[in-house]
Amino acid sequence: MAEAGTQELVSFAKQGSVGVITINNPPVNALSPGVPEGILKFVKDAALDASIKAVVLIGGGRTFIAGADIREFGKMTSGKRERLSMNPTLATLEDSPKPIVAAIHGTAFGGGLEFAMSCQYRVAIASAQVGQPEVKLGLIPGAGGTQRLPRLAGVAKALDMCVGGDPISAKDALASGVIDSIVDGTSGDDLLAGAVKFAEALTGPHTRTRDKSAKLSDQAGSAAAISAAREALKKKGRVLIAPAAAIDAIEATTRKSFDEGLKVEAELFQKCLFSDQSKGLIHAFFGERAVSKIPGIGKDVPLIPIKRAAVIGAGTMGGGIAMNYVNAGIPVLIKETSQELLDKGLATIKKNYANSVKKGRFSQEEMDRRMALITPTLTYDGFEQADIVAEAVFEGMELKKKVFAELDKIAKPTAILASNTSTLNIDEIASATSRPQQVIGHHYFSPANVMRLLEIVRGKASSPEVIATSMDLSRKLKKVGVLVGNCRGFVGNRMFGPYRREAQFLVEEGAAVDAVDAALYEYGMAMGPLATGDLAGLDVGWRIRKEYKHTEVAGVRYPEAEDRLCELGRYGQKTGAGWYKYDENRQRHLDPEVDRIVLEVAKERGIPRRPIDAREIVDRCIYALVNEGARILEEGFALRAVDIDIIYLNGYGFPAWRGGPMWYADTVGLKNVYERVGEFHQAHGYHWEPAPLLQQLAKEGKSFADWDKGRE
Ligand code: NAI
Repeated sequence: MAEAGTQELVSFAKQGSVGVITINNPPVNALSPGVPEGILKFVKDAALDASIKAVVLIGGGRTFIAGADIREFGKMTSGKRERLSMNPTLATLEDSPKPIVAAIHGTAFGGGLEFAMSCQYRVAIASAQVGQPEVKLGLIPGAGGTQRLPRLAGVAKALDMCVGGDPISAKDALASGVIDSIVDGTSGDDLLAGAVKFAEALTGPHTRTRDKSAKLSDQAGSAAAISAAREALKKKGRVLIAPAAAIDAIEATTRKSFDEGLKVEAELFQKCLFSDQSKGLIHAFFGERAVSKIPGIGKDVPLIPIKRAAVIGAGTMGGGIAMNYVNAGIPVLIKETSQELLDKGLATIKKNYANSVKKGRFSQEEMDRRMALITPTLTYDGFEQADIVAEAVFEGMELKKKVFAELDKIAKPTAILASNTSTLNIDEIASATSRPQQVIGHHYFSPANVMRLLEIVRGKASSPEVIATSMDLSRKLKKVGVLVGNCRGFVGNRMFGPYRREAQFLVEEGAAVDAVDAALYEYGMAMGPLATGDLAGLDVGWRIRKEYKHTEVAGVRYPEAEDRLCELGRYGQKTGAGWYKYDENRQRHLDPEVDRIVLEVAKERGIPRRPIDAREIVDRCIYALVNEGARILEEGFALRAVDIDIIYLNGYGFPAWRGGPMWYADTVGLKNVYERVGEFHQAHGYHWEPAPLLQQLAKEGKSFADWDKGRE
């Protein structure tokens, strides 16, 4: 009969001659304080218990140790907690006279895999995954992962796993030597039974992982894999600390003793841990969770069950939105104005799915199943059954109001009526219905089936149920939902305006088109602002500028060159020319015609031309984001600075390792940012009026993170 242990986070029981150590730290058995100590205690107890022949280390609930407790990293860098090396604990496991079998289900990531690799054996169920994803948080494995993994799986595989950070399947782990066996079954109980059986059958001697050398013997092969990894990193261009550190640490395995290798790893880990890159990535990690918390809307707010959806408009956005629902298993009606447009929309969806099948993402049967969930229609028949209607018709207030008035007549009373408008006032759209509390904005980003961001635009009447369901739905659709207020451009596009305005001003003042894009690319943006304009279509902004011409302030400078490009039909990639010209492979090339247009504008407007360096380009564009972000915060259109960061990381190609524009400003120091904004204000006037909140925080020596804390 099993003997119960005493520790809460870790428990111990015996099954015959096998001691079973179970970690009980829900939800993911993270290595929080108390967990390693608990494991260690029972490993030591087992060593002294003559009736125990071998030990199984297993996770209670749905997973093995899924990784480190990420909150602990922040405590270490802020000095709240000293970093205690896990290495002595793992050495005790590795030196255990009784062999320990790590039994893996769910995930063994990061510190979880490092624990498992310090055991003498590893078994897993087929659905388990293992990996060293630290690099995704700007870190490297810090408890021997870079030293033990090459000894089990070889240098090339260890590089793949530690530099790329992606998990591998149990099957792959078995083939590459990370685990020793796959046990039958699917549940935690099956795993325990299989692991105990495996442990009972063990006969010595048991080689410690640190003593395994066979996979390190091919020195030439290892050296080649290391230089290939370095080359691949170099090709990516921008310098990230963690992947390079992972390569260095693995290289140490091939040149030094195990203990010396551990020292190299520890130094590199420390360097990564204290880097701004890691802090930015960890901020982004927690930020994604933080944005789901909406003050005043608790877990008690009932959700509206979403079993059926309907989409109006099968154009660029409507098609992608329909795919999102279908991918989540929700059947969808999709309505258009003519059979031809409906067929065209459906053909695009089909093409997208066929591409996924071709790439091996899912099977033809799965594609057929998904296509069968879509019902194309030219009427509102069936809309009365939809729990949510997503509107994605042309951008125009009259049309949107007409559509919402029609929906008001047929949709069920509880249905959510969501508009995908990118610029229009949600309250005005809602006013076309008798139920504004059911109306909300669901602002997707193009391509809607790919981009993770979903801005959820709260109208003044949107009900708590509609907001809570929208947030919940975003998770089901595998999106990051961020609640924003109803202002022009909402949060993301409102900030993007000043960002792109500065990029254009810089060109008019003398910076080369490709120099502006290169500076922001080097900063880390997925793409420079001018190339992004060409990709999205310059005509979109041009039309909006024309519509809002009346709001321009007399005597204030507005970008001119882009309008001229549009007047010449240069809308960007879709017309083969914009800020660049494009060849048949959509490769961009500089175009002297653009220089001519820009010079003409500068001359007409009396804009002095001068050399402009990369630093000014980055500061002008990024601080334009930050200054507008500060206004948005103060006006309450974003709940927290972190919400703005998450919007930029998921919708605008902002580099995750910079944590988002507001976090980046914090790392620079708001006093410095404010001073620089002040310089720009002096030089360029109106547009650079510092946001009052930026000024206030800078003067108080505070950060946007402090502002967020005040709102918790
Ligand atoms: P689109 O022009 O590709 O598609 C709009 C479709 O709606 C057309 O196929 C049109 O025939 C259809 N339509 C018009 N009236 C209709 C009606 N009464 N019933 C059914 N279908 C109708 O436009 P796109 O780009 O998909 O934009 C749709 C909405 O999404 C707009 O509000 C736009 O501002 C917004 N949006 C667009 C983004 C983009 O990058 N294209 C990004 C985010 C939002």
